[in-house]
Formats: sequence, C-alpha cells, structure tokens
Amino acid sequence: MPEQKKKIFPSDFQWGVATSAFQLEGSPSADWTTWDPTLRKNPLITDHYKLFRQDLKLLKDLGVNAYRFSLEWSRIQPREYTWDEEAIGHYQEVIDILRSYRIEPMVTLHHFTHPRWFMDRHPWHRTASIEKFLRFTEMMVSTLKGVRYWITFNEPYVILLGGYLEGCTPPGLRDVPRSLAALKNIFTCHGKAYDIIHRYIPDAQVSVAHNMSVFAPWKKWNPFDRVLKKTANYFYNHSIIQAFRTGIFLVKFPFSRPVEIEVPIKNKLDFFGVNYYTRIHLRFNPFRKMGVELRHLDIDGYGLSTLGWEIHPRGLEKVLRYASRLNLPIIITENGIASHDTEEKVKYLKKHIDVVEKCLTDGLDVRGYYYWTLIDNYEWLQGLDARFGLYRVDFETFERAPTYAATYYSYLIQSRSAM
Ligand code: GAL
Repeated sequence: MPEQKKKIFPSDFQWGVATSAFQLEGSPSADWTTWDPTLRKNPLITDHYKLFRQDLKLLKDLGVNAYRFSLEWSRIQPREYTWDEEAIGHYQEVIDILRSYRIEPMVTLHHFTHPRWFMDRHPWHRTASIEKFLRFTEMMVSTLKGVRYWITFNEPYVILLGGYLEGCTPPGLRDVPRSLAALKNIFTCHGKAYDIIHRYIPDAQVSVAHNMSVFAPWKKWNPFDRVLKKTANYFYNHSIIQAFRTGIFLVKFPFSRPVEIEVPIKNKLDFFGVNYYTRIHLRFNPFRKMGVELRHLDIDGYGLSTLGWEIHPRGLEKVLRYASRLNLPIIITENGIASHDTEEKVKYLKKHIDVVEKCLTDGLDVRGYYYWTLIDNYEWLQGLDARFGLYRVDFETFERAPTYAATYYSYLIQSRSAM
C-alpha cells in the first residue's frame, strides 16, 4: 500500500499502544473474576502476568515510543490491609523495561476492576471508597519510580453506566441516586488524586481517559430522535468537559429538573485523554428502558466491527474538536477495532491516523495516539472473541503471532513521524 511521506506529526508525538492489566492478566482477587463465569475457563487470559517481558519486547519491535497500561489494584492490595510487594515490584519492572526501551509509560490507576474487598465493603456509592482509592493512589505514586503520565480513571462514565444504571458490570446496580453518589465520589477521587500525584511528581501529566462517541438521530426527520441525540451528546461528551472547567456536573434530561453536583475537579487536568471507537444512532422507543434504542448503522460504507460497532473515522475529528474546548493538550488514549480481518484493521488504522493528521494540520493540539490494543485480550462483555490485537493470541497455547496490522502500524509510525 503506497504511503505518502508527510511530516505533520511532530518528533515528540506519542505513538503508543494501550492495554489494561485485567484484560491481559486476570486476577484471582478481582471483583470481575467472580462476576463473569466465562473467566473460569481462562482465568489467566493471555498469561501476560508471566509473559510480560516477551510482550513488552513486542512494543520495541513495533517502534512505539509510548505505552499505556494499568495497575491491577487487586493484585497489589489483595486484602484490605495487605500490600503485595511482589506485585508492586512486578509493575516497577514493567516501567524499568519500558524506560530501557525509551518507551514513555502512561499508567492507569483504575481500569474497571477492583479488589473484591473494595466492592464488597466500600463500593463507589459509599464515602469510604474515597479514602480507600486515595490510599492506593498514594502508595503507587510514592513507590513506583519513572512515571510522568497518569490516568486516574479509565472511562468514569462507563463505570457508572455499566455498574449503576445498566447493571451489567460490578456492582450490578440500577439505581439513579446511588449512581449520582458514585459519580461524586469517583470525581472527588480524581481531584484529590491529581493533587497527590503532583505532590510527589511536580511535572506529572494527569488526566482521565474519557470515552467519547458520536451520536446521531436514527431518523433525522424525527424530532424525538433528535432530542435524544442532543441529550446523549451533552451528557456523554460535554458534561465532563464542563465539569472540568467549572467544578459542577450538570445532569439534565428532558422533562426533569436539572441536578447540579459539585466536585473538586476544576482545572484538575494537565491534558485530556480521549478514547474513541464509534458512532451510535439513537431512536426513541417508549417500550425500551429510558425510551432509548441504540443502533450501529453502516452509513459511510466502512462496515461494522466484530462487536457490531460502526467504523466512523470522521467522528474522531468531531470528538477531538469537542475536547479542544478545554484548551489543553489532547491525547487519544484509545482507538481501535475488534476484527478477525487484518485488512480491516489496517484500513481502520490508516483512516483514523489520517484524521489525526488532518486535526494536526488544522491546529488541534493532539499530542499522542494509542492504538487499542497490543495483543488480543479479554473484552469485558464479549469474552475472548473480540480480537482487538495487533498480535493474535491463541488462548489455549498462549502463543502470540503478529498480524499484518502490526507491520502496518510500525510502517505508519516510521513514515509519518518527523525525525
Ligand atoms: C474501552 C475500554 C477498554 C476496551 C475497549 C474496547 O471502552 O477502556 O478496556 O475494552 O473499550 O472495547
């Protein structure tokens, strides 16, 4: 595939790959391990906890200069008052190996999973959750050496939607008042964690990784579908941006009184992490929960992923423009496709990198792009068949094999970056 040599990407642009610990390693003490019975068959998932050295070598082979990964809290603090030195040493070794490869580590403190004791005794809607998470944060930030980039929470809204409104992820509730309490506690943790991280590492760069999607009305002519689109777009994409600017979450839905929730997060960001995957069409349906039906339609002709998500590269520009309202550097902390078809992965990569390039040309302050993900892994609601990896994993033998998408990503990095 001929690739024109353009040098729009600056030499310090972060070309990365993103992963999360649990999705690669599993963990005996995590809440998710008992939550999803399908994990009983593959508790080690890719056995990355043991094979991490060879997996980190893959990053070097790819030629990335940045790597986002998470700490599995339940390995580090398997019981409420027990810290596992071996686990802490393990993650320090990951950082040291990355540094020796000149790969910038970006560490996520919370990527969906918890130690079981935390969910049993101090779930997010209880105030004690704050102290527990901050103790973990301080322990990590004061112990681990060599990390400047920190993500406090991966996709805080997804935690709330899944755990407190849909009930499809731990703690499995459908409870609006508790979801609002959890929102307040999670964002209070972010604000305080931001200060703790800066106390130990003055030049740290801290953010959340916020999942952003493009929304569209199912039928453009239908006023109900249009109202839904507007509501979802405000809530999912914009309300967090406003909260980081003002310290107030404005929760407003049609036909109900707006609720204001104060949170100590005003300006508690050094950059903004954006996870982007897809566009969602919304249809008003009074027989569905909350009157909403979600659909993915193949409108642009790029197709749908294995998970049925619409491939919509232009949407990346849209959400980056929303994010730019914070007037901060933006890092695309996740973007990728689940597909068994390598060609499809290659096309997805090219189209999305082209959009990033256009955004840079237009003057948007995008500092990095992290492809999701390095090797095939466990996908939260879909198990082991999603195949987001640049490398294919055989979940029986734990063998890793490069796909053409890995070669192509290396090629993109080399051909697009200024030296
Ligand atoms: C994100 C999430 C990742 C991964 C990805 C693909 O929302 O942060 O953990 O699962 O989606 O679905």
